[in-house]
Amino acid sequence: MAEAPAFAAAAAPVLEVRDLKVHFPVAGGWFQRETRVVHAVDGVSLAVHPGEVVAVVGESGCGKTTLARAVLGLVDATAGEIRVKGAPIIGLDAASLRAHRRRVQMVFQDPFDSLNPRKTILSTLAQPLSIHGIVPAGEIRREAARLLDLVGLSPGEAFLDRYPHQFSGGQRQRACIARAIAVRPELVVADEAVSALDISIRAQILTLLQRLKAEFGLSYLFITHDLGVVRSLCDRVVVMYLGRIVEEGPTERIFTAPGHPYTAALMASCPLPDPRLARARKTVTLSGDLPSPVSPPAGCRFHTRCPVAQAICGREAPPAIELGQGQRAHCHFAADAPRWQAGAGPAQESKP
Ligand SMILES: Nc1ncnc2c1ncn2[C@@H]1O[C@H](COP(=O)(O)OP(=O)(O)O)[C@@H](O)[C@H]1O
Ligand SMILES: [Mg+2]
Repeated sequence: MAEAPAFAAAAAPVLEVRDLKVHFPVAGGWFQRETRVVHAVDGVSLAVHPGEVVAVVGESGCGKTTLARAVLGLVDATAGEIRVKGAPIIGLDAASLRAHRRRVQMVFQDPFDSLNPRKTILSTLAQPLSIHGIVPAGEIRREAARLLDLVGLSPGEAFLDRYPHQFSGGQRQRACIARAIAVRPELVVADEAVSALDISIRAQILTLLQRLKAEFGLSYLFITHDLGVVRSLCDRVVVMYLGRIVEEGPTERIFTAPGHPYTAALMASCPLPDPRLARARKTVTLSGDLPSPVSPPAGCRFHTRCPVAQAICGREAPPAIELGQGQRAHCHFAADAPRWQAGAGPAQESKP
């Protein structure tokens, strides 16, 4: 696989994010007089290619939602670039922003919060259909029913005049997905879209997302703190820690041969009957809380919690180590991954 940056890839990506930073100034210190800066997203680059599902995983607070909001144009980037189908979305005027909103749709964690309780599902679907002129006014009802059929609320006609409270959690999420695909987007950003659902419903929604992807050639940026849901749906995984990417690679590689101790530690929360993972689990466990994104640790951001950290990790930011097949880990000792997974540690240098 080419080691060139994602931006030089042959098929034009649906989404390209380059060195994105989203910083939030917040009041802090004595009497809230100091301005501090939350480094929510702090230099993230990634690409989603047509038909691809890219997972963004990491603990709560690592910047996943902020990344999603930036991609959707809902929060201003402090620095960096975001392009959809090659077109920059930072600094768009109102008309271009509307066009962007059609191409990139979102599905959130809480379908109850994201559906207007006072609107029937028909009027929820009618709004984007008419704003973006997807079908003539006279056909909106029929199109809305068709969309509901597509997401498994069938017969769609029977659901059109219902209100969100008349739906179950899974049905509400299906309705949200119908709204997202109503405007025929190219990219769907799903932020913890199945995290709040019961496990059986979760599997159904994942299957639905998979079917819609195949049917409409959609691409997904699939954000979750739960690695367990990633394996069935996602082609590639991007692992974030404290505003930065620590590892990325094909899903299978991330699961079976994590190159970063943080990725291996995340696996501990993911029940998989894989002996290699079980071995990694024995030695790489996560302790302590995520440090504050106001003052992230120097060097490798993970070094304060890393079970195999050495002195260099507190001093120098780790380089990106290419591990083949498009897997890349930002760890001084990524090349030693099989050793520390087996419990030997990276050796030589003593612990700081
Ligand atoms: N509007 C905001 N103002 C200040 N801090 C924020 C804001 N939004 C998010 N943050 C902070 O940015 C960090 C990343 O948050 P978020 O993107 O929600 O993470 P995740 O979705 O991975 O849980 C957190 O420390 C959060 O408190
Ligand atoms: Mg979030």
